[in-house]
Amino acid sequence: MKHFFSPFFNPVKLVKAYRFHKKTGRYDRTVNDLELKLYSKILKNDMLHLGYFDDVNTAPEFISIGHLEQAQYRYAEIIAEQILDKDLPVLDVGCGMGGLSNFLLTKGINVEALTPDRNQIDYIERLEHGPVCHHSRFEDFRTENKYGTIINSESLQYLNLDKTFRKVDHIILPGGRWIITDVFRRHEESSNQSGHRIGDLLCRIKEHGWKIAYERDITPNILPTLKLLHMYVDRYLIPLSHYAEEKFTYKKAWLFYLTKNIRQAIFVKSKKEILAIQPELFVAEKKYMLYVLQKEIPSS
Ligand SMILES: C[S@@+](CC[C@H](N)C(=O)[O-])C[C@H]1O[C@@H](n2cnc3c(N)ncnc32)[C@H](O)[C@@H]1O
Repeated sequence: MKHFFSPFFNPVKLVKAYRFHKKTGRYDRTVNDLELKLYSKILKNDMLHLGYFDDVNTAPEFISIGHLEQAQYRYAEIIAEQILDKDLPVLDVGCGMGGLSNFLLTKGINVEALTPDRNQIDYIERLEHGPVCHHSRFEDFRTENKYGTIINSESLQYLNLDKTFRKVDHIILPGGRWIITDVFRRHEESSNQSGHRIGDLLCRIKEHGWKIAYERDITPNILPTLKLLHMYVDRYLIPLSHYAEEKFTYKKAWLFYLTKNIRQAIFVKSKKEILAIQPELFVAEKKYMLYVLQKEIPSS
């Protein structure tokens, strides 16, 4: 017990702790997304999206990591099918670990990747035959290049809509296509705020002179992954945390008592996060859409 508390009464340790705190700085999810980093350690195909199940009735109990990775390749295929002019350059915005870009490279498509996340850029730059990768937020991306296709594969939700439309307008070739796959909120009110409101996207499409060349609600096809994640939380993570808590009570009852407020705050935060992957709630409040937008060719 003495050993546990001694750093709190040691001035040298306290100064060092303060310096460490200053050096570590504020957590900026855009440049160092720890959640995506965690997923990238679990899945080994460098894809960080929910995948696409052809069989929408696949039960979560029968999905292995291999099945999930296959579903992610299928998702990449669905996107690749929408690239019509394969000779023009493609930009993969918010490329994650570069899985989709690499998949497109194997199809002979000239793709460049972009991410603001330093873990992702470091990883992609170490790949032997990886894509050219730009390290930038898309909203701040400066380039003279123009692209025939721009892809936002589960990345639009992280971007500011107005700035993104302005940027895409600037770098898309006439007649170019913009492929978007992502979660959207059906209404303003939602128990979890991830994803843009679908009405906001539709307004911007009109305002910026784009037309919808193709659209599909692929919620049923991503739902098996959501059910799988929810099952893991429900059947492994929650029981495991209860087990750890009970064990903690018996091993260090005094510490258990003193950390009550911290544990409660973690519990409230986790409950909120779990709501985002609750399948029934997702269907009620959100949609997972595939949009292909096309820029009108200006008449001469
Ligand atoms: C869920 S991951 C999707 C990764 C990848 N597109 C895929 O399908 O595997 C979201 C990606 O968006 C990126 N991102 C977040 N904010 C961004 C921004 N402002 N500009 C560009 N990309 C961003 C993240 O770093 C990450 O690479």
